[in-house]
Amino acid sequence: MTKAVISGTGLYTPPATIENEELVQAFNAYVDNHNRQYADEIASGARDALQPSAPEFIEKASGIKRRHVIDREGILDPERLCPIIPDRPNDEPSVQCDMSVAAAREALDQAGKSAADVDAVIVACSNMQRPYPAISVEVQAALGIDGFAYDVNVACSSATFGLQAAVNAVEQGSANAVLVISPEICSGHLNFRDRDSHFIFGDACTAILVEREDRVAPGKGYDVLGTRLKTQFSNNIRNNFGFLNRGDDAGVGAPDKLFVQQGRKVFKEVSPMVAETIQSHLASVDLAPSDLKRMWLHQANLNMNQLIARRVLGRDATIEEAPVILDEYANTSSAGSIIAFHLHNSDLSTGDLGVICSFGAGYSIGCVIIRKR
Ligand code: COA
Repeated sequence: MTKAVISGTGLYTPPATIENEELVQAFNAYVDNHNRQYADEIASGARDALQPSAPEFIEKASGIKRRHVIDREGILDPERLCPIIPDRPNDEPSVQCDMSVAAAREALDQAGKSAADVDAVIVACSNMQRPYPAISVEVQAALGIDGFAYDVNVACSSATFGLQAAVNAVEQGSANAVLVISPEICSGHLNFRDRDSHFIFGDACTAILVEREDRVAPGKGYDVLGTRLKTQFSNNIRNNFGFLNRGDDAGVGAPDKLFVQQGRKVFKEVSPMVAETIQSHLASVDLAPSDLKRMWLHQANLNMNQLIARRVLGRDATIEEAPVILDEYANTSSAGSIIAFHLHNSDLSTGDLGVICSFGAGYSIGCVIIRKR
């Protein structure tokens, strides 16, 4: 059977950034305004005062220092605390299409390929800015690809689920080369008025090119040794936004139509599931954790990543073994583990083994074991 190879990756990083201090300043101004506005009710006990946020808490609890975003101004306006991303006319590329094309071009360049070599596009991310036509079909047209495209959403595991679909397509012969693209605009579904989570997300887009091995020069890219997916239903990370259930017009005042989570429960329940999935997946291809040179883990929380790596390896992982991009990017949903891979793989040598592993809402876990060619 033809084997699949990851031959290139790309990353689009929005130029605008928000430091923790700036985010907290805007949030705390909102809190002050709110508490002033409802001072009488708060004094009578009819309403709770809102509590301020703190940059020190954010960095300690999550490892996040800043995030890249599509729009700074709307997020930092205490009256709004929500990005301003204007609608575009139908004859202009969508925001997600623009991000996707930028990341895809880098992946193609890295692989030394052009759009003419690609015959499928999977856009895999947590939120699509419209249901149809599929964002992936728009990206396919923008890149000039002849073939097929479809969208996939499995929250933070979208990219690894998309990767398995791409690997299957290549190995089964329905495509020669597949782009898996994750345009994550997490700032659009984050509730910047929620103290527990207002700091969690950032925006970015990744792209991965998966090709038939006979089309990739020896020594280039990564063999895909196996993929494993796992899902188990949970309400602990949820977003009720949908076409039957839209919330208010501004989209800023309906908390359950945005990201909500029980972060502590997620931490406790998901960490052991992820470690067990990585270990059993490695065992299924006759590998041991000690064979791994690198783990490119989903980037949601630094402490969680350290715990998972420790459970897998039986000891603390070094920063080289489990690289972290949370400080610069925050949680970029399904793009996170792919950003870590994109930025931290060039030092690996032929034969080095690694695992890309995502986890998140669903719950969902996706594991991809790869070997440097
Ligand atoms: N600023 C200051 N203090 C804050 C705060 C903020 N923004 N948000 C919460 N706190 C306070 C809490 O009120 C609490 O105070 P208390 O002890 O007096 O009650 C304290 O900080 C600890 O809060 P807690 O929620 O227990 O923090 P935590 O260490 O669990 O960290 C998360 C919170 C969300 C960062 C963490 O649980 C997490 O990342 N979980 C995993 C999430 C995940 O992977 N999600 C997947 C999403 S795709």
